[in-house]
Amino acid sequence: MQTDFLVIGSGIAGLTYALKTAKEFPDKKITVITKTQADETNTKYAQGGIAGVWDEAKDSYHKHIEDTLIAGDGLCNEHIVEIVVKEGPERIKEIIAYGAEFDKDEKGEYSLGKEGGHSENRILHHKDVTGKEMERALLDELRTVKNIELINHCFVVDIITQHHLGYLVTKSTLDITCYGVYVLNLHNHQIEKILAKITLLATGGCGQAYRTTTNPRIATGDGIAMVYRAKGKIENMEFIQFHPTALYEPGVSPSFLITEAVRGDGGILRNKNGEAFMERYDARKDLAPRDIVARAIDNEMKRSGTEHVYLDCRHMDKEKFIHHFPNIYEKCLSRGIDITQHMIPVAPAAHYSCGGIKTDEWGRTSVKHLYACGECASTGLHGANRLASNSLLEAMVFGHRCFLDSKEEINKHSFEERIPDWNATGTTEPGEMILITQSQKELQQIMSDYVGIVRTDIRLERAMKRLDLLFAETEALYRSTKVSPQLCELRNLITVGYLIVKGAEFRKESRGLHYNTDHLQKSGLLQNIIL
Ligand code: FAD
Ligand code: SIN
Repeated sequence: MQTDFLVIGSGIAGLTYALKTAKEFPDKKITVITKTQADETNTKYAQGGIAGVWDEAKDSYHKHIEDTLIAGDGLCNEHIVEIVVKEGPERIKEIIAYGAEFDKDEKGEYSLGKEGGHSENRILHHKDVTGKEMERALLDELRTVKNIELINHCFVVDIITQHHLGYLVTKSTLDITCYGVYVLNLHNHQIEKILAKITLLATGGCGQAYRTTTNPRIATGDGIAMVYRAKGKIENMEFIQFHPTALYEPGVSPSFLITEAVRGDGGILRNKNGEAFMERYDARKDLAPRDIVARAIDNEMKRSGTEHVYLDCRHMDKEKFIHHFPNIYEKCLSRGIDITQHMIPVAPAAHYSCGGIKTDEWGRTSVKHLYACGECASTGLHGANRLASNSLLEAMVFGHRCFLDSKEEINKHSFEERIPDWNATGTTEPGEMILITQSQKELQQIMSDYVGIVRTDIRLERAMKRLDLLFAETEALYRSTKVSPQLCELRNLITVGYLIVKGAEFRKESRGLHYNTDHLQKSGLLQNIIL
């Protein structure tokens, strides 16, 4: 198969790019592929909303920029922060024009929420299911565009580069070029090649590397691992964001999120003794940036030997709560928690990857003809810790920027016809799929036990030793058995785990989301760790 623009991923990043490209080039072919069904994305589960300067009487670009820089703890790229904050509102208007609805107040003005680290109310939301509404609007718009082909259940295994033509490709090769991808077609279980003039990775995050995560099953870091295998550049993977308040339900995965907007509306964190502990940790209390709140909760749990703390909403106005958070209200009720009577048990869960595939200000990766945007990319916006609700914003701003750049490039590229078919010689059906499941559980255990919210040198060393073994076992399995999504995801998660640990080992300081008790001071040297 050949396509002009190949988009991998149907979340907010991939769909923003695909729609713009298709409208600009009605005669060109745009192909969007997803590994399950189109709406099964991290995007669909976004709750709190999308940040943007909307009320210019109270808010300003300057304030949003400052909040983003403070949360990022010294590592944000200020130029990128300015781009995202200033271009964001235009992109939000575009999705409103596609039909996305955001809540309004009695006066018909957008009702703006607040979350941790924000100095003003600036978060547009649709109840507590903002992502679902945005994904719906994007997919509805997609159906109106004729030249986009959406292919579901199509698993990208690897990006194709000169390596597949038999050339030696190393980290120092300057002109690594992407010619398309090999995919596992889950309808016929064959590996096929898709050649593309331009490829965009919008494959989302990697929360599934951890035992407790808010991310759905699809979040296995595939794009990040593929680029690393292709010898492209990955950066800042040590900055994994743990959301402070996932509903505590042992054994349930993914964890259900209790949006930070609940704290924005007055929810208070309490420990097992009922004490509102956040004031002991930060002057901003429950609305401090996420890294600080998650560490405070972790500390409270360790001190008291409990597996969760509580989010107290009992004092909040019931009608208002139900109006803003109907999904959370229902979910809690279904678990026997009436939020007007009971406190909600919550614990931190892996939530967001601040690092990823290194890109420039146009979403270009270090691999030619390959762009990346959304959670899989590291644009420089988030630095050492993402500000709440900046992710959907970044995905739309960079979906647009990737479009702007690639529209100038497309007519310069042609298809590389010499790419060989996938070679599956010598591989057999896997004997025991359970081995894959067990290895994935082991990986999640290692990452959660040794590379969580609080790290130490010895924990990182232990994690690396254990990952080495898992890596060797899984590569042997990969070489000898037929490719399956489960095996590819395991392989990708191990790579992502390795990148997180390696980044954490290199960073000899505590900054933002990376907190190592053997290196509590901040280093004077501000640097991104590129692997
Ligand atoms: P995704 O939306 O995750 O889409 C990834 C796509 O890639 C999917 O279509 C998937 O099928 C495809 N894909 C992946 N690998 C492959 C492969 N190998 N082959 C083929 N296809 C593949 N951010 C905010 O700004 N505000 C919020 O309120 C907010 N709330 C959140 C709540 C939850 C519970 C979660 C989990 C995240 C939240 N976030 C929020 C973060 C935000 O939702 C994500 O960062 C963002 O939606 C990512 O969008 P994306 O387009 O990059 O990737
Ligand atoms: C939330 O609603 O708390 C999540 C917001 C985000 O991850 O940006």
